Amino acid sequence: MEYVLLNNGIKMPVLGYGVYQVSNEECERCVLDAISVGYRSIDTAQAYGNEEAVGNAINAAAKKYGVSREELFITTKVWISNGGYEKAKISLKESLRKLQTEYVDLVLIHQPFNDYYGTYRAMEEAYKEGFIRAIGVSNFYPDRLVDLCRFVEVKPAVNQVETHVFQQQEKAHEYMLKYGVQHESWGSFAEGRKDFFTNPVLMEIGKKYGKSVAQTALRFLIQSDVVVIPKSIHIERMVQNMDVFDFVLSDGDMTAIRALDEKESLFFSHYDPATVEMLTGLHR
Ligand SMILES: NC(=O)c1ccc[n+]([C@@H]2O[C@H](COP(=O)([O-])OP(=O)(O)OC[C@H]3O[C@@H](n4cnc5c(N)ncnc54)[C@H](OP(=O)(O)O)[C@@H]3O)[C@@H](O)[C@H]2O)c1
Repeated sequence: MEYVLLNNGIKMPVLGYGVYQVSNEECERCVLDAISVGYRSIDTAQAYGNEEAVGNAINAAAKKYGVSREELFITTKVWISNGGYEKAKISLKESLRKLQTEYVDLVLIHQPFNDYYGTYRAMEEAYKEGFIRAIGVSNFYPDRLVDLCRFVEVKPAVNQVETHVFQQQEKAHEYMLKYGVQHESWGSFAEGRKDFFTNPVLMEIGKKYGKSVAQTALRFLIQSDVVVIPKSIHIERMVQNMDVFDFVLSDGDMTAIRALDEKESLFFSHYDPATVEMLTGLHR
């Protein structure tokens, strides 16, 4: 496994396992499978409803595979309805209880809505008290990120945003670099949209290295200094998605993949009021 060094000196695996849309029933098995094949970073969120299952898997991994808590990097995220200092503080305690752990490696503000400055202060406090090893944000577009970076004491270590070959986030990446924030991709496969897994450019390039579209897409992001957390409920795909450290895409192939960028979300815009209404209406 390769690692990135966050702005507070904490090491984070460049590749992890995401559990969005993994049902609570399947999540414990999936996370345990992921750990058994070598994943050490797990990305969950209050909103996914599966923190408890992740916690069960962490415990089971120690017993079954001898993988200790210290070897794992656990991320969770504070949902909008838990926004504001008081609520966020309570929800962080609740996340720790569900995850059955004394500390979380990384906590992100899930969305840039509600009183996220209050949320951030609660996270800064938990960080200083040692319950969280690093704090950051998710879905913060460059304008929101810059604003936050200007006015907080503990600079965000990570910004997790939609990033894949069709939405490469070049400008957002530049601002993250400028403010020392690690870029992390969600939806590295665009959740399969736009016939992702049969994209001819990715297929052709992958073939040269004996790699699948999924592996080529992940390799492209890792070589672009982006942390990835692909999701799959299938163990053979988990194995495939981790097998991306034995090849290097040439400059020419990187350029060809860069040309796939459409610079637009395949999901939604956080600037669209209908999206804001939809997301802020979800209570978790
Ligand atoms: N911060 C946020 O707002 C946010 C939003 C979305 C996601 N996330 C995080 O990012 C993680 C990843 O994003 P995502 O789950 O939305 O989507 P994704 O990783 O882009 O795509 C997952 C989809 O790809 C399929 N897949 C995985 N590996 C494959 C392979 N090797 N070949 C073919 N198909 C494959 C999976 O199917 P199977 O499962 O059936 O294999 C699933 O349908 C999430 O789990 C979550 O932790 C965060």
